[in-house]
Amino acid sequence: MAATSGVIEARNVFKAFVARSHRQQRAFLALHAVTLSVAPGRFVSFVGPSGCGKSTLLNMVAGLIRPTQGEIWYKSRPVGGINTDVGYITQDDNLLPWRTLVENVEVALEFRGVAQAERHSRAERYIARVGLAGFEHHYPHELSGGMRKRTALIRTLIYEPDVILMDEPFGPLDAQTRVILQDELLKLWEGSGKTIVFVTHDLVEAIALSDEIVLFSRAPGTIKRVYEVPLARPRDVFRVHADPRFPAFYDQLWRDLKEEISQMDLEGAVHGHG
Ligand SMILES: Nc1ncnc2c1ncn2[C@@H]1O[C@H](COP(=O)(O)OP(=O)(O)O)[C@@H](O)[C@H]1O
Ligand SMILES: [Mg+2]
Repeated sequence: MAATSGVIEARNVFKAFVARSHRQQRAFLALHAVTLSVAPGRFVSFVGPSGCGKSTLLNMVAGLIRPTQGEIWYKSRPVGGINTDVGYITQDDNLLPWRTLVENVEVALEFRGVAQAERHSRAERYIARVGLAGFEHHYPHELSGGMRKRTALIRTLIYEPDVILMDEPFGPLDAQTRVILQDELLKLWEGSGKTIVFVTHDLVEAIALSDEIVLFSRAPGTIKRVYEVPLARPRDVFRVHADPRFPAFYDQLWRDLKEEISQMDLEGAVHGHG
């Protein structure tokens, strides 16, 4: 791995948090010796057991927290403060409840001082691309879960960051809406040259979307394995199971992930509340 090839690089990163239990205070290791390079333009997914530090790593790329040891590099520089160059779509959509859909979509352009006419025309274009035309003046509480996620997505895409971090963005959606949004995301991304780092617990979603999948071990999280997704592009997310390379790849990924999940979690997953 060449030292300068990645738009995002983690170099031997450790992250410890202070855990307080009763009267004791001790360091708790969340990430351990993470070294990773994300090449520009790639779609990379992070998968791993819950609590293995996936969100923590995204937070470090966004400059919201710092490694305890090691460095995160972004575009050939160590991340010091908040990294405003990346787009970050967190698990919670964080829409402003007092602003309409279009006002939410425009908020980042407002901060960047883009003139109103330009803001409107860009917002209208993105709103139409994800099928939200007609809902511009609805407030977040008047939108469905899928519409809120679409709004959160285009609110970030509209300022055209080169790198977009997405933390389980489609997590709480029903299965049908998820696949539709996956399809929309791929169409927005393909040919854009943008780099996406996408956290998901859904292996099918990771396979359908990604060029590369990074599997984390159980806590303290480290990288267990990196896979090149063997499916050709463009992808049909609705028929990803039908690809002849899908079953063997899925099985391998699941086998490797299963080793990292505790028996208790596996039983929970089998009984449908994992
Ligand atoms: N700010 C924090 N303070 C203390 N512990 C934290 C903090 N953020 C995350 N953790 C802990 O670090 C571990 C990794 O968390 P996280 O990155 O959210 O995992 P994941 O996203 O993979 O589920 C978890 O045990 C979590 O409780
Ligand atoms: Mg997380």
